[in-house]
Amino acid sequence: MLAPPPIISVSNLSKTYGSGFKALKGINLDIKRGEIFALLGPNGAGKTTLISIICGIANLSEGRVTVGGHDINSDYRAARSLIGLVPQELHTDSFETVWATVSFSRGLFGKPKNPAHIEKVLKDLSLWDKKDSKIITLSGGMKRRVMIAKALSHEPQILFLDEPTAGVDVELRKGMWDVVRGLQASGVTIILTTHYIQEAEEMADRIGVINKGEIILVEDKAGLMQKLGKKQLTLHLQQKIDAIPPALAPYKLHLSDDGRLLTYDYDTKGERTGITSLLSDLRNAGIHISDLDTTQSSLEDIFVSLVRAP
Ligand SMILES: Nc1ncnc2c1ncn2[C@@H]1O[C@H](COP(=O)(O)OP(=O)(O)O)[C@@H](O)[C@H]1O
Ligand SMILES: [Mg+2]
Repeated sequence: MLAPPPIISVSNLSKTYGSGFKALKGINLDIKRGEIFALLGPNGAGKTTLISIICGIANLSEGRVTVGGHDINSDYRAARSLIGLVPQELHTDSFETVWATVSFSRGLFGKPKNPAHIEKVLKDLSLWDKKDSKIITLSGGMKRRVMIAKALSHEPQILFLDEPTAGVDVELRKGMWDVVRGLQASGVTIILTTHYIQEAEEMADRIGVINKGEIILVEDKAGLMQKLGKKQLTLHLQQKIDAIPPALAPYKLHLSDDGRLLTYDYDTKGERTGITSLLSDLRNAGIHISDLDTTQSSLEDIFVSLVRAP
C-alpha cells in the first residue's frame, strides 16, 4: 500500500541568521497526518527556528517546506491557513475577554464568523465558563489554554505547540497532555517542541531529536526505546563472592561492593543477549543466584547519550 503523503514535508532546510549563525543545517523531516510528533532537543537546538520557518514567521535560507502540499514560500496563504501556532513566548496580559480574543484571532485569518466553532473550541479546552472573563484575570494554565483556543480559532489541521508546558507545574502539565490527546482524537496533527524527555515519552507517537541544528534521529517512540535501549540484568547471589571468576570475564560483569549483586549490560537490539550462556557459565563457576531482575534505560538516558555524543 502506498503511504499517504506527509502533511508537512521539510527538505534540505537550512537557516543562517543575519548574524551569520547557522541555526539549522540540512533538515529533512516528514510529519504524518494525524500524529503527535515531539521535537525534542536541548535549549538552543533550533526547535523554535524550525517551527517558525514552517509557520512562515521566519524565512528559510535554503531548502523547501510544504504544508498540505502547499509550498510555504510560493503558496504562503494556503499553507499558513492549515496551521495553528501556540508560540513559546506568550503575551497574555490582555484586558479583552476570552470570547473576544479568540473570535478576533479567527478574523485575522479572513475566516467568516462562526460562533458555533468558537464555542466548541472553548468547551473542548474547558474554558466555556470563562468566556466573558478578561484574560488578565485568568490563571497561568488557563491563559495557556486561551492561547491554544486562539490557535484553533480558524480550524487549522495542524497545531504547533512550542514548549507548551515549559514553566507549567506538573498538575497543569497533565491537563495539557489530556487537551493535546483530545485534539488529536478530533483529527488535528500536533507538533510539539520540548526539552522535557518525559513529555516526549508520554505524549508523542514519534520523536525527532534535534541538536545543534541537526536532526539526529526520528523514530517511533517504541522503536526509539528498542533501537537504542540498553537493558541491565541484575543477579542476586545466594552467597557473596570476592571477585568475578576469570571464566566470566568476557561478560564484562560488574560486582557490587558487598559482593552480592552482579550486573550485566546487554543490548536489546542485538540478536543474542548472551543471557542464556551467562546463566549456564555462572552455574558452571559454582555461583548460584537467588533472584534476578532487569531494568531498561529510559529515554532520558538515551537522550543524554545522544546529545553528548561528539
Ligand atoms: N534572531 C536570531 N538571530 C541570531 N541567532 C538566533 C536568533 N534566534 C535564535 N538564534 C540562535 O539560534 C539557535 C537556535 O535557537 P532556537 O531555535 O530558539 O532554539 P530552541 O528553540 O531549540 O531553544 C540558538 O543558538 C539561538 O541563540
Ligand atoms: Mg525554543
